[in-house]
Amino acid sequence: MNCCHEGLEREFNQRSAAQKLAAYRRAGPDPSSQVLIDALVARNVRDATLLDIGGGVGTIQHALLGAGARASVGVDASRAYVDTATTESARRGYASRTHNMHGDFIALADSLAPAEIVTLDRVICCYPDMPELVRLSVAKAGRLYGLVVPRPLWWVQFARRAINGKARLERSPFRFFVHSIEQITAITRANGFAPVFAATSGVWQVCLYERQVNPPATTATG
Ligand SMILES: C[S@@+](CC[C@H](N)C(=O)[O-])C[C@H]1O[C@@H](n2cnc3c(N)ncnc32)[C@H](O)[C@@H]1O
Repeated sequence: MNCCHEGLEREFNQRSAAQKLAAYRRAGPDPSSQVLIDALVARNVRDATLLDIGGGVGTIQHALLGAGARASVGVDASRAYVDTATTESARRGYASRTHNMHGDFIALADSLAPAEIVTLDRVICCYPDMPELVRLSVAKAGRLYGLVVPRPLWWVQFARRAINGKARLERSPFRFFVHSIEQITAITRANGFAPVFAATSGVWQVCLYERQVNPPATTATG
């Protein structure tokens, strides 16, 4: 296990998974997750396959399966979250249509099948190597690629420094990142995707990209 993975296991531990599950059962998806879910469902998820990376307790998986998606695979670096998502999927009647795997997506990417929809809901902010995470994950997406990432506001940067200072004091390798949304979009564009939806929800930016089947031809001007 590398230090990123170790930090994720420590941060997203059994206690955090139990708290997150209780909140999810009480109030449903967090507002930013709901914005992403609504944007995906508006683009038709019927019979689609989903790869949800860093899916936590399985919020996106359950919502899309409930909206008619055929099957989902979840990959999470936290053992506690994978176990919680697996149990919650069964409780909601989705056991036969979900498969939750434990591990760092970057390490598992070669062994994972592509899916029509790929999502990373508040995940890129937990990972140092954003270019590799985005490059490998968008390469798995057939049609839609959905993200929730922190907005680059000064007080989000302030919170980032506070979170990382606390992690250093606790000798945890976990770090929070505010990666450039422009760079993320550039990587998705280089892989044949274009933005089709963007919205803010509190400190979060929701981004949805769609594969460009026939990119518009460039017309000469002048
Ligand atoms: C802040 S939580 C978000 C959970 C859920 N998506 C949500 O929005 O409630 C981030 C999750 O991403 C996972 N994660 C971060 N980087 C990952 C990676 N490279 N591979 C797999 N999981 C990852 C963490 O283990 C954690 O469960």
